[in-house]
Amino acid sequence: MSGFNTRAIHVGSEPDPVTGAVNPPVYLTSTYAQDGVGVLRFSDYSRVGNPTRAALESCLASLEEARYGVAFASGLAGEDALLRTLAPGDHVILGNDAYGGTYRLLTRVFGEWGVTVTCVDLSDLAAARAAFGPSTKMLWVETPSNPLLNIVSISALSAIAREHGALLVVDNTFATPYLQRPLTLGADVVIHSTTKYVGGHSDVVGGFVATNSDDLATKLKFHQYAIGAVPGPLDCYLLLRGLKTLGIRMERHCSNARAIVNYLSTHDAVEKVYYPGLSDHPGHEIAVAQMSDFGGMVSFTLKGGAEAARRVCESTSIFILAESLGGVESLIELPAVMTHASTAGSTLYPPVNLVRLSVGIEDVDDLIRDLAQAMS
Ligand SMILES: Cc1ncc(COP(=O)(O)O)c(C=O)c1O
Repeated sequence: MSGFNTRAIHVGSEPDPVTGAVNPPVYLTSTYAQDGVGVLRFSDYSRVGNPTRAALESCLASLEEARYGVAFASGLAGEDALLRTLAPGDHVILGNDAYGGTYRLLTRVFGEWGVTVTCVDLSDLAAARAAFGPSTKMLWVETPSNPLLNIVSISALSAIAREHGALLVVDNTFATPYLQRPLTLGADVVIHSTTKYVGGHSDVVGGFVATNSDDLATKLKFHQYAIGAVPGPLDCYLLLRGLKTLGIRMERHCSNARAIVNYLSTHDAVEKVYYPGLSDHPGHEIAVAQMSDFGGMVSFTLKGGAEAARRVCESTSIFILAESLGGVESLIELPAVMTHASTAGSTLYPPVNLVRLSVGIEDVDDLIRDLAQAMS
């Protein structure tokens, strides 16, 4: 297999066989001429199949070292398609600091349908094992997690899930396949909000599910066209274009994040920095073993409480106050009242004085100066 960056640039982007165009065309079509009734060249309809979507699926599947990849209109649409493989009465174990929208989907949509959820600290393997019951079908993991950047062991959890006949699902949005490939570590399914690092430019919303299982891939492809939450060809093109620079962007996200962590770690106003690259982070050793670097997300709490955290978020000028993450531009936010507000009252609710940074790829000295003036 060729290297990551070579595959990111070439898989699915072979020159157009008719014209030689280095970038294959974006197939803006809803339907296809048939050579006879039911005699198809590629597909019958773009919800069922579109060549630009197929190109994205083959490229990202290759980067995740997956046999199958299925693209969706958003990360949550992908999660929805995956969760629809469950039946009423089934049980899911979710890491206790998962993305709030995943928790909302599981409890308020699938909960109504009879799926039950238990949130557990999955860094505690005994607690993970104890959460299984006879109807547990999925163990759902984010590593690094959002927003506390906790790390859990994919290989250890995959062994536990397997013992209980459940699937291990890993949300790889934060790490990206450049830093971590969960299927090679024992996961059964990888999901992505491609809205984030895969797109990389904060200009598209998308989702992706990858697996090596024939059976699961068949069900996911069925849900893709039967439910219809498909990304359009222009969105797929933007994601495919984003993938070509994923590796080089991630290197810069990681090195900028490291410099910012060093700065914050010695700042008087900072109570605690959450970053898996710190040697005293409880998941540091696992992160070293399963990731090739520690990512571009950094969270920290402020000694001055929620008010101080809000003031910092409202005082930066390069860091943009906004939800989402993973784009070239740096973002800052207050999870307790923004991205994770829907988890209030649950064990997933983050500290109210926690600030989350999505460190972009700008000049890092400018980013540090911006934080310094916001925290002065
Ligand atoms: C870790 C993680 N997973 C899934 C999602 C959902 O993805 P989307 O917003 O593309 O639906 C998000 C969104 O923020 C996320 O941060």
